[in-house]
Amino acid sequence: MVRGLWKKLAVAALTAATVISASGCGSLTDGKRIIRISHAQSETHPEHLGLLAFKEYVEEKLGDKYEVQIFPNELLGSAQKAIELTQTGAIDFVVAGTANLETFADVYEIFSMPYLFDSEEIYKEVMMDTDYMENIYESTDEAGFRVVTWYNAGTRNFYAKTPINTPDDLKGKKIRVQQSPASVNMVNTFGAAAAPMGFGEVYTAIQQGVIDGAENNELALTNNKHGEVAKYYSYNKHQMVPDMLVANLKFLNGLSAEELAVFKEAAAISTEVELEEWDKSIEEAKQIAQNDMGVQFLEVDVNAFKEKVLPLHQQMLEENPAIVDFYNHIQLVNENAKGGN
Ligand code: GCU
Repeated sequence: MVRGLWKKLAVAALTAATVISASGCGSLTDGKRIIRISHAQSETHPEHLGLLAFKEYVEEKLGDKYEVQIFPNELLGSAQKAIELTQTGAIDFVVAGTANLETFADVYEIFSMPYLFDSEEIYKEVMMDTDYMENIYESTDEAGFRVVTWYNAGTRNFYAKTPINTPDDLKGKKIRVQQSPASVNMVNTFGAAAAPMGFGEVYTAIQQGVIDGAENNELALTNNKHGEVAKYYSYNKHQMVPDMLVANLKFLNGLSAEELAVFKEAAAISTEVELEEWDKSIEEAKQIAQNDMGVQFLEVDVNAFKEKVLPLHQQMLEENPAIVDFYNHIQLVNENAKGGN
């Protein structure tokens, strides 16, 4: 109820601001341009803490011109809605998982490919290679937005009301996935029935038995309280999917070179903070989920799960040429890491 009220107030404030900006005055308060950032997580989530560092840096350097406002908890709408707001320039930034970007640029489908990175270190190495990632980030320019940095969103695993120890345990289970065809395909290939829906709907859907479980990182259990309704979390480790900080392209192009440098630096700092907070928050989440919520963490045979879905690599590469270069690049990093051992 309270959350609903906040949402209405936030949307009302935004509508008023959008009217002002559409009338050509920009979104100005006290002569300052208001920068709005939307994200789907709570205020204790590493992404929110990273964005606070972004705000602090921008306001420290350019505080006479800009004020940064952060809207957490899907206050401005689900990721898909908030991307649309960023596209039109109603807001300036949104944090979105790559599954939500797939419809705008085919290359982002690669992150839905299961067992793509051989380890977390490799995943981070690829994502930290800013020069390489810039090419990927520019792929949504035609849609009117561009990624400016990435955030770690951990490793995705299955969790449900009953234990999933082997791929066979997925049979007949309805599992929520993000609204991306590649994720739907992946979960169906695992043998479950994929139920695509927005993140904010998952708790109630599990609680009411509409679905049996979902797949996500550990923070979904605590920050989003899914551990109250799903008590078994299996470490089958099918994906490492980053979240992206996405900016309206006109906004970026309208900045002076000096200002753009500040925003880029702020984005890099926000990633540093987010990554540090991520590791801490996963440890905390596991403790809370286990001790306070009664969630059981299950170690499973990852290879058994991997075998089920590995044919998807070839299938996805054949169906989507836009991912081929990036895939080969990642395989090279995977291979080099083996050589180094
Ligand atoms: C994670 C991720 C989000 C994503 C969500 C989901 O929380 O950080 O970007 O939207 O999972 O499964 O929808």
